[in-house]
Amino acid sequence: MDSSTETDTVQLDPEQPFWERFYMVAPLVIIGTRNDDQETYNLAPKHMVAPMGWDNYFGFVCTPKHKTYRNAVRHGVYTVSYPKPSQVVLASLAAAPRVGPPDGPRRKPSLDQLPTFPATEVDGIFLEDGYLFLECELDRRVDDLGENSLLIGTVQAVHVEKKALRVSEQEGDVIRDNPLLAYLSPDRYAAIKDTNAFPFPAGFEK
Ligand SMILES: Cc1cc2nc3c(=O)[nH]c(=O)nc-3n(C[C@H](O)[C@H](O)[C@H](O)COP(=O)(O)O)c2cc1C
Repeated sequence: MDSSTETDTVQLDPEQPFWERFYMVAPLVIIGTRNDDQETYNLAPKHMVAPMGWDNYFGFVCTPKHKTYRNAVRHGVYTVSYPKPSQVVLASLAAAPRVGPPDGPRRKPSLDQLPTFPATEVDGIFLEDGYLFLECELDRRVDDLGENSLLIGTVQAVHVEKKALRVSEQEGDVIRDNPLLAYLSPDRYAAIKDTNAFPFPAGFEK
């Protein structure tokens, strides 16, 4: 049960599921992995994703129950596609249920609807028409984060849509002309179009 500590906040029980009690801003990407049949690929949306520092590491959180985890661990590579707001339905389709016998091969027929193109440096595919694409080699993983794991890869190749590249002094224009997709966990999304320059303190260095 919730217990209030102050008038404006409420203390939630961390032993109970609490991430779905409020909204948070997250990215939304499509992780691509190779299936065991050696011929087909899997795509799945993930929002618990981030660069792991300023070097070429990229990580995502995934449960070992998902095919994405098993594929990435088995083949040692994965791709990351960043969709645009106009592609939110495609991103969602990548999470449609699998069909097939419980003990046989189970397919995600929705993946047939997703236009893709091949990666160049690793064995994988991307979602077409995204604006940013990463090709990653699995470097390490952290298991047993409850029912989830963190998979960290090194980025072997980066592809960016030309019009999404930052142009000096015109960053606001780039985003206005090419809005970014934000996932507002747990159940909303937003197209980010209007942005402001961040008010860094004088003398700030990263
Ligand atoms: C918007 C959205 C965000 C998601 N984010 C994550 C995530 O960050 N980590 C995760 O393990 N699953 C996440 N999922 C769930 C899976 O990616 C999804 O169920 C997927 O189909 C799993 O399939 P797989 O067995 O093909 O890997 C998300 C699903 C949706 C719809």
